[in-house]
Amino acid sequence: MLVQLYNVSKTYRNGVKALCDVSLKIDRGEFVFLMGSSGAGKSSLLRLLYREELPTRGQIFIASRSVVRMKAREVPLLRRNIGVVFQDFKLLENKTVFENVAFAMQVIQASPREMKARVEETIELVGLKDKRDCYPMQLSGGEQQRAGIARAIVNRPLIVLADEPTGNLDIDTSWEIMDLLTEINKQGTTVIMATHAQDIVRRMQKRVVMLENGVVVADALPGASIA
Ligand SMILES: Nc1ncnc2c1ncn2[C@@H]1O[C@H](COP(=O)(O)OP(=O)(O)OP(=O)(O)O)[C@@H](O)[C@H]1O
Ligand SMILES: [Mg+2]
Repeated sequence: MLVQLYNVSKTYRNGVKALCDVSLKIDRGEFVFLMGSSGAGKSSLLRLLYREELPTRGQIFIASRSVVRMKAREVPLLRRNIGVVFQDFKLLENKTVFENVAFAMQVIQASPREMKARVEETIELVGLKDKRDCYPMQLSGGEQQRAGIARAIVNRPLIVLADEPTGNLDIDTSWEIMDLLTEINKQGTTVIMATHAQDIVRRMQKRVVMLENGVVVADALPGASIA
């Protein structure tokens, strides 16, 4: 199992209970949707996985390593294995597409030439070769999200976490982004995506984990009908 959560609860400092006794296992190579109404705890769950937040209770393992007990110096390695994609892209406005992707690339004994080649290859994979020297404000929303995905995958992570990646995009552009995430998943990367887009979820035919008030209320494989 790539991702394991055991009885995970998260109560924020202000007393809000975002997650309550969540247990969940996700296998290598899966594509999983996280659904549930606003405030259900989807983003909180994703933030726990890349250790942006720590759980109040429970254990989380990624590739058999405890994310909770992990030492601060081990966090960069965890983050290298997890790419994150956001609804609002979160690109650096004063950097080009190339620079945004290069900036995210961790130096792992690669020569500058190898690093440049990897960045170029990733930008080409997401279909932004022609826009590599553009700044975010010169790009459409869909192109900005492609750049966000390139940044998320440039370190060849085990997992891509996507928090409403199509939330700011029209339906056609949303499908282009879904096709890209599907392709990344087919190449072996596990994808966990929070979304409200019911049409997309229905047509993708993937596992759906449903949250309600911080509790997993359904976990269904494609084919099963969810209310
Ligand atoms: N940093 C925080 N501090 C305090 N409370 C928070 C924090 N982040 C989220 N919450 C609260 O935790 C609960 C779950 O929020 P979360 O953002 O995980 O929901 P969500 O399912 O992602 O919702 P949405 O669909 O609107 O993005 C909500 O009640 C929210 O107000
Ligand atoms: Mg959210």
